[in-house]
Amino acid sequence: MSSGELRNKFLEFFEKRGHKIVPSSSLIPDDPSVLLTTAGMQQFKKYYTGEADPIKDFGAQNVASIQKSFRTSDIDEVGDESHLTFFEMLGHFSFGDYFKKETIEWTYELLTDVFRIAPERISATVFAGDEKIPFDKESYDAWAEFLPSERIRKGSRADNIWGPAGPEGPCGAANEVYVDNLEVATLVFMEYFCAKDQSLTPLPQKGVDVGWGFERLAMIVQGKKNIFETDLFEPLWRFLPTRLAEKTRRVIADHARGISSLISDGVRPSNKEAGYILRRLIRRLAVYKVENIDSVFKAIVENYSGFYPELDQGAILSVVNLELEKFNETVYRGLEKLEKLEKIDAGLAFMLYESYGLPYEIIKEIGQTKAEYLTRDDFDKELGLHREISRAGAEKKFGGHGLLLDTGELKAASEEELKKVTRLHTATHLLQAALRKVLGDGVRQAGSDITAERTRFDFTFDRKLTDEELKKVENLVNWAVSRKFDVRMQEMSYEEAVRSGVLHFFKEKYPPTVKVYSVGDFKADLSAGEGPTDIFSRELCGGPHVKNTSEIGRFKISKQEPLGSGLRRIRATAIQI
Ligand code: SER
Repeated sequence: MSSGELRNKFLEFFEKRGHKIVPSSSLIPDDPSVLLTTAGMQQFKKYYTGEADPIKDFGAQNVASIQKSFRTSDIDEVGDESHLTFFEMLGHFSFGDYFKKETIEWTYELLTDVFRIAPERISATVFAGDEKIPFDKESYDAWAEFLPSERIRKGSRADNIWGPAGPEGPCGAANEVYVDNLEVATLVFMEYFCAKDQSLTPLPQKGVDVGWGFERLAMIVQGKKNIFETDLFEPLWRFLPTRLAEKTRRVIADHARGISSLISDGVRPSNKEAGYILRRLIRRLAVYKVENIDSVFKAIVENYSGFYPELDQGAILSVVNLELEKFNETVYRGLEKLEKLEKIDAGLAFMLYESYGLPYEIIKEIGQTKAEYLTRDDFDKELGLHREISRAGAEKKFGGHGLLLDTGELKAASEEELKKVTRLHTATHLLQAALRKVLGDGVRQAGSDITAERTRFDFTFDRKLTDEELKKVENLVNWAVSRKFDVRMQEMSYEEAVRSGVLHFFKEKYPPTVKVYSVGDFKADLSAGEGPTDIFSRELCGGPHVKNTSEIGRFKISKQEPLGSGLRRIRATAIQI
C-alpha cells in the first residue's frame, strides 16, 4: 500500500464515520504559547475547552486530518529506525461525541482490516491510575475485547497521561498502541484542563484526540525495516551522496523535509524561536557539503506538493542557498577554532554558537570526544541565560502601556491611532503587491510591524533595491491610491484560499475559515458570485482595513535596510491629503 493510498484510506475511514476532513494547519500554530505545531490536536485546542463550536466551524462534532508536525525533542535520535523532526500525523478528533469504546474499536479495525496487520503483533498500554486520576478501566475493558491481557500493559503518568500541548491546555488519559515494539498511535481521552500550575479541572465535555505516526505506519504496512525505506523517503536517496554515512544521509533527508515545510509556512532563519530552529537545520546540512542540494529540495516539492500545495520551491531554494552561503563564510573559522579547543564545556559551546554560528548538534558531532560531556541541557541553559539578559534589556526599553489594538503586527493605543494604523495596514498590502510587481514573485512577506507613525515591512529579497526601483514601488502604491480602488473582504476555507494562490505569510493564523482581502477594480458584486477583475492585491489577513484606497493618503517610502539572510526591510509612511 503506497503512502498515498494510506492517506486516502485513513481519511475515508473517518469520513464514513461522521468526521469532517480538515486540512493540515500551518507549522506556525495559532497559539502564541508554542513555537511550532507538534501534533494534530494543536489547531483544535479551543474545541475541547468549549471556547469554539465545532458544529459552527466544521458542521460536525468530529474531524479528521493529516497534520504536518515538527518536534525538536527527538532531534538527537534522528537517523535511527523511527525518529524524525518533521513528521506527519494522521489524526481523528471528537469534541463531545464518541469516547473510549468507539475509538478503541475503530483503532483495532483500522489496524487489522484496513492496514492488514496480524492481530498477534498488536499491543496497547493504558493508565494504571495514581492518587489523582483513577485506573483507566474503560479503556482496559475495551481493549480486552480484542487483546489477551498480557498484551494490555498498565503504564505510569509519564506514558499514559497526555498533554497539555504548550504550557496549559486540555489533557487526559492516553493509550499507546504498538505494533511489535514500535508505538504507532496514541489515543488521548481529553477530560481535564491542565493549568500552568499542573492542577486539573474537568473539561465541560469529554473529547478524543488520536494521532498516528504516518511514517511509522507506512513502514509497517510496507513491510520495511525503518521509516527511511518507505516511499515517503525513497525518491530522495538518489540525490544524496553515497560517500556519506547512512545515518548522515537520513539526517539530511529528515532535515530537508523540515526545512521545506518551515520555509513554505513563512519561517526564515534567525537567532530566535522558530527561525533559530530552521537555522540549525540548514547549518547542519551545510557541514556535509552536499553537492547539488537543490535537487533534494526539488524532489521533496515534487513528492509532497500534491498533498501540501503550499510548498514553495522558489522560496525554499533561495532561503536555503543564502543561508548556506552565509554560513560557509564563518563555519570554517568556527571549525578551526573548535579544532584548537581541548575540551568543550557549555560556555565554550555557547561561544562557538554565538561567534561562529555552530549549533549544538554540529559541536557535538564534529567535537566528538572533546565534547563528550557537553549536554543539550547545559547548552540550552547557557543560551537561556544570555536570552534572559537581552530580554530584560528590551522590556526596559519599551516599558508597558495599554494598547487598544495589538495583533503583534498592528499596534494602536487610541481610536485616533487605530485609524492611522488601519490606513497604513492597507497601504502595506499595496506595498507588498507593488514590490512583487516591480521585483518579481520572489518577494514574500517575512514580517511586518505597524504603528500610527509608520509601517515596517520585511520581505525576502537578496540585494539592495536601486533608487529607481524604490521610486517605482512608491509610485505604484500611489497609483493604486489615486485609482480609488475598493477593498473587499471574502470569507472562505483556508484550503480554498491557499489553492486559489492567495498570499499568506509568517505568523498568519489559520482558523478553518479565513478572510481574504482584495484591492482592485471590481466589476461585479462578489457576493453575487461573479469574480472581480483587475485585482491589485489579494491577501489572507485578519484586518482591519480601509474601505477604499483613497483613504490612505500619499504613500512615502522613508528607508530601506538590509536584515541579513536574504531579507530586507522597508519603512514607509502615509500622509493624508
Ligand atoms: N496528541 C497526541 C500525540 O501527540 C495524539 O494525537 O501523540
